[in-house]
Amino acid sequence: MAFSPEHVGALILAAGKGTRMHSSKPKVLAALLEEPMLRYGLAALEPFFGERIWCLVGHEAERVMAAFAGEERRFVVQHEQNGTGHALMVAWPELAAAGLEYVLVTNGDMPLLGAVEIEALLNAAAKADIGFLTLTLENPGAYGRVVRTDGAVTAIVEAKDYDEQRFGPMADEVNAGVYLLKLSSVGPLLDALTNENANGEYYITDLVGLAVAAGLVVEGVRLGNTPSLLGVNSPAELTVSEEVLRARLVDKWLNAGVTMHAPSLVRIGPRVRLEPGAELFGPCELYGECHIARDARILSHTVLWDAEVGAGAQVRSFCHVERAIVGAGCSVGPFARLRPGALMEEGAAVGNFVEMKKARLGKGAKAGHLTYLGDADVGENVNIGAGTITCNYDGVNKHRTTIGDNAFIGSNTALVAPVSVGENALVGAGSVISKNVPDNSLGVTRAPQRNLPRRS
Ligand code: UD1
Ligand code: CA
Repeated sequence: MAFSPEHVGALILAAGKGTRMHSSKPKVLAALLEEPMLRYGLAALEPFFGERIWCLVGHEAERVMAAFAGEERRFVVQHEQNGTGHALMVAWPELAAAGLEYVLVTNGDMPLLGAVEIEALLNAAAKADIGFLTLTLENPGAYGRVVRTDGAVTAIVEAKDYDEQRFGPMADEVNAGVYLLKLSSVGPLLDALTNENANGEYYITDLVGLAVAAGLVVEGVRLGNTPSLLGVNSPAELTVSEEVLRARLVDKWLNAGVTMHAPSLVRIGPRVRLEPGAELFGPCELYGECHIARDARILSHTVLWDAEVGAGAQVRSFCHVERAIVGAGCSVGPFARLRPGALMEEGAAVGNFVEMKKARLGKGAKAGHLTYLGDADVGENVNIGAGTITCNYDGVNKHRTTIGDNAFIGSNTALVAPVSVGENALVGAGSVISKNVPDNSLGVTRAPQRNLPRRS
């Protein structure tokens, strides 16, 4: 970069509604691998611009800002969405007040943009008044067309407004929507933007023609046929971009030493961390802040959200794990559900149709079949029999169940919380336990069996 980085900032245009998405969600919150689109743009810009990144929001601004609550972000609100040029005008005073010399402006709907493209623009356009990235597309659709005369850019014209008489045949080189603007040169051009076009909007792209007319230096930086510059305007385009991201992330982890079976069916979010030696079987999905340790195996048809899986643990097929911790050497499933606050300590096991929520299962403890453990604290080496239910909810409040180390809970037991079962205690099968069972005791509530003569 030829300029001092502290005087270069970035602006993401994220105020649009995204009409073509047909969703009630603002487009920049559309999820790719379960992360909002805007987060990808921010992640790409952060290494270059640090805190000097502004997000221009407008359509459902509150909702967009709420998605980044708790993070230090600079937002500017564009109350009416009158086009990308208008968006720039709204943000301009803030950018100028921050003492920026250059601003990199990017559309908020480019989740594939990466360091390579940003660097290319910063390097190639360092001496220009306006620089922008271009790509070539076989079917350029609605993208703005780059118009050149003898190789030099003269304008960007939106497809809708394109007049072949005036601009010549439409090129396959299009505007990507990433610009580097020199504030002192571009500021005076803003007043000349008009909304006289097919959409009745102010276009940022019109600055190019205005700059050329004013004798300024304009650089269209050709990056060719690269998917990194694709925009997302429709559900179909979202799918294309998400698949590119998915494949990139799978490649990254394969190269880092993670083993994958059927990798084309593995979906890994951008914040997930995998240790070399972890093993994944597609189809499976890992999102949020998952962390999977070495030698852990995640078998097929499993979905993990913000899950921690310890070394050597096995999450078998058809499990759903969300905000839960699976300790080293644990076994989960098949068909188990760990809900938020589930904690399995080292070597614990849950089998099929077991659900845990805000519950600890101590070291080596086992719940093999058909069980609900909610708001419970289960000690080490406890055995929970099939069909055990912690009755944690009385219709108004939630209550806790405590089970001491080495206890044995017989099958089909209802533990009516608040209740505790002591260490080394035994609960007889089929009991409804509503009073505490002391240490080393047998608790049983079954009525004695009677065998009566059968009536004919
Ligand atoms: C824009 C470009 C087009 C380029 C294409 C690349 C213009 C006029 N056209 O078209 O040349 O080829 O991107 O993908 O810029 N936004 C606001 N406020 C507004 C309007 C839009 O913040 O008032 C934001 C949107 O949220 C979006 C971005 O600006 O992130 C681009 O807007 P969009 O409507 O998607 O522009 P395109 O029609 O794709
Ligand atoms: Ca777009």
